[in-house]
Amino acid sequence: MAAKDFLDEIRADPELGGIYEEARAALESAADSEALEGVRVAYLGRKGRLSVLLQGIKRLEPEEKRRVGRLGNLLKGWLEKALADKGGLLRIGEMEEALRREEVDITLPGRAFPAGTRHLLSSIIEEIEDIFIGMGYRLVEGPEVELDYYNFEALNTPAWHPSKSLSDTFYVDVPGSGSDDVLLRTQTSPVQVRVMEATPPPLYVIAPGKAYRRDVPDATHSPMFHQVEGLAVDEGITLGDLKGTLEHFTRRMFGEERDVRFRPHFFPFTEPSAEVDVSCNICGGSGCRVCKGTGWLEILGAGMVDPNVFGYVGYDPEEVSGFAFGMGVERIALLKYGVPDIRYFFDNDLRLLRQY
Ligand code: PHE
Repeated sequence: MAAKDFLDEIRADPELGGIYEEARAALESAADSEALEGVRVAYLGRKGRLSVLLQGIKRLEPEEKRRVGRLGNLLKGWLEKALADKGGLLRIGEMEEALRREEVDITLPGRAFPAGTRHLLSSIIEEIEDIFIGMGYRLVEGPEVELDYYNFEALNTPAWHPSKSLSDTFYVDVPGSGSDDVLLRTQTSPVQVRVMEATPPPLYVIAPGKAYRRDVPDATHSPMFHQVEGLAVDEGITLGDLKGTLEHFTRRMFGEERDVRFRPHFFPFTEPSAEVDVSCNICGGSGCRVCKGTGWLEILGAGMVDPNVFGYVGYDPEEVSGFAFGMGVERIALLKYGVPDIRYFFDNDLRLLRQY
């Protein structure tokens, strides 16, 4: 039987016809899936109008039972299909609406997340490390909060030495200890003592790290700065080895064309001692604020390990000898990259940091 025929038959029946017309109107006005579900429940749910009607046919006369049963089931079939069709349409509409709502404009430019880079000083330290690691040196570290013993005493620095005075050293107050022997290391040299104490010779080590001095900040001074300490102890190490090592280093670091000079100097823990200068590349050697008019920049102190220091760590100065050096990382960076003022390294000004 064609759909039209049974619908006509249904329409002709007052009760079924009424249900049909109302269901059709309800279907039509259902604007979303939720409303449509309401229609389904109202007609086909357990207490829905059509369900109740179909349950009631058992009480009818046999002929009427057959007629209403047949038409009722046809109406049920029609309504189920109509609900499914309308449901499909509504879902498509709702999906399109959701897509419109959640639309992402892929033509918008992305947000740029700023990428960090290594700080210039970290790069320089790494460069220094690489040069010495290439010569067979090993990396070691020591504490920044140090004992007077390691920072001064075992480095052969007598109690009267001017660098021990309050004007140079940050002392650390350890509450309740009553002692004044804790300080921020003024140099990385105490690492020399710690390594020798812990390790028998031969030794080839470098120790990068921070150091602290009570200096008033200016173009070449900062109360916190970085050093790389070096120490070589072995049988038969000579001043010639020290010069050769440092010359190799300065050439690798600054290039063959840069001048290097060794100037006699004094350090309590080396004898003889020297300061090593590199020609100032900011003024080309003619003199400027950074090199204080000398044309030279001091980049490191060095010397042959004083036998007294070996005495403190239990090395036999009759059997071994050694050299040590300590270089200022900021000074090397000033020179190598032409940064005119040490304070720039610590200002965190991106205009400077982005350049390296
Ligand atoms: N510690 C010295 C300084 O800070 C540098 C140095 C290190 C000198 C090792 C000689 C040997 O000036």
